[in-house]
Amino acid sequence: MAYLVTGGTGFIGSWVVKSILEKKKHVVCFELDPNIERLKNLLGNDFNKVKIIQGDILHFHKILDVIKENNITHIAHIAAAVMRVCNTNPHYAMQVNITGFTNILEACKQTEIERLVWASSASVFGGSYGNEKIPNDASFQPNTIYAGSKLLSEKLAEHYFTNYGLDIIGLRYTFVTGHGMPNSIGGKFIEELCEKPAIGEKGRVPWGEDNPDWLWAGDAGRATMLALSANTTQTRAFNVAGDPGSVSSAINFIKEILPGSDLEPLPGKMGFNNFDGSVAEKEIGYKPEWTMKKQIVAHINRARQKANMKLIEDTY
Ligand SMILES: NC(=O)c1ccc[n+]([C@@H]2O[C@H](COP(=O)([O-])OP(=O)(O)OC[C@H]3O[C@@H](n4cnc5c(N)ncnc54)[C@H](O)[C@@H]3O)[C@@H](O)[C@H]2O)c1
Repeated sequence: MAYLVTGGTGFIGSWVVKSILEKKKHVVCFELDPNIERLKNLLGNDFNKVKIIQGDILHFHKILDVIKENNITHIAHIAAAVMRVCNTNPHYAMQVNITGFTNILEACKQTEIERLVWASSASVFGGSYGNEKIPNDASFQPNTIYAGSKLLSEKLAEHYFTNYGLDIIGLRYTFVTGHGMPNSIGGKFIEELCEKPAIGEKGRVPWGEDNPDWLWAGDAGRATMLALSANTTQTRAFNVAGDPGSVSSAINFIKEILPGSDLEPLPGKMGFNNFDGSVAEKEIGYKPEWTMKKQIVAHINRARQKANMKLIEDTY
């Protein structure tokens, strides 16, 4: 019995691997471009417990072989072409997100996998809801091709559940922050907001008028493990919410804990929303543990640790 994590050395995938290892399960990563350093940094000595297989979810027969050869019973499908890839290379990105996901679904069906959990995205809802929390069953209004690919994936998952009895759970992560974040738009936001003031530099913070739902990557990993081990759920996909907090409140908090910080909020919004996570709590037992403030302190201390500076107290 072993757990397969596609995209298992990616940002969220590596936290999923960590959460599975914490439950003493065997983990195999199936990864296009293994980022050994990221996984080693996160897992420390436990890195040696993980088997990493280089492979592409576009290669159907390779997925089948990996499942059979490694006695895989559960899969966390985290690999995807993220927003940046969708925008810059839509032809390739749709192959990965649609054909790649269908390969995973079909491989699960043919090998009678006990549980498939996959990474959807809160972006399927699109729109702008202000401070209102988006319910789990709100209507979908995806406004990017990335979000559209996740919506079609939700429909594909429903089809495989209804027609073939494949036991599937989709998780709609929100705005995920944590160690190992890629140098993407989200990573840049954390760098400007947290890492620069942490070492005494000026930060110019994007999305100054926005109100993200801050989801710690460790909470996303824990939610994924809960979904992998839950009884069959009534609902096929869940909002995995974090802690809502405006960018301006984040800046005020940093100025409190690091007096003298020079932070300039830039006008504009990314288009974040906040989400009702009560259905996930009821059906898979997931509740966020990390507040926005705790996440900020963790990012600040990570930057200060790298710069050999004194850490700030974490009481959040
Ligand atoms: N980061 C967020 O805030 C966020 C929010 C909502 C949903 N998600 C979803 O969570 C998942 C992980 O996102 P992330 O931020 O960790 O991105 P990431 O890019 O760090 O991780 C994706 C991983 O998938 C791998 N991969 C890509 N194509 C592959 C292929 N063809 N075969 C095998 N592996 C492949 C990549 O090498 C990478 O390691 C994605 O499905 C993403 O859509 C992320």
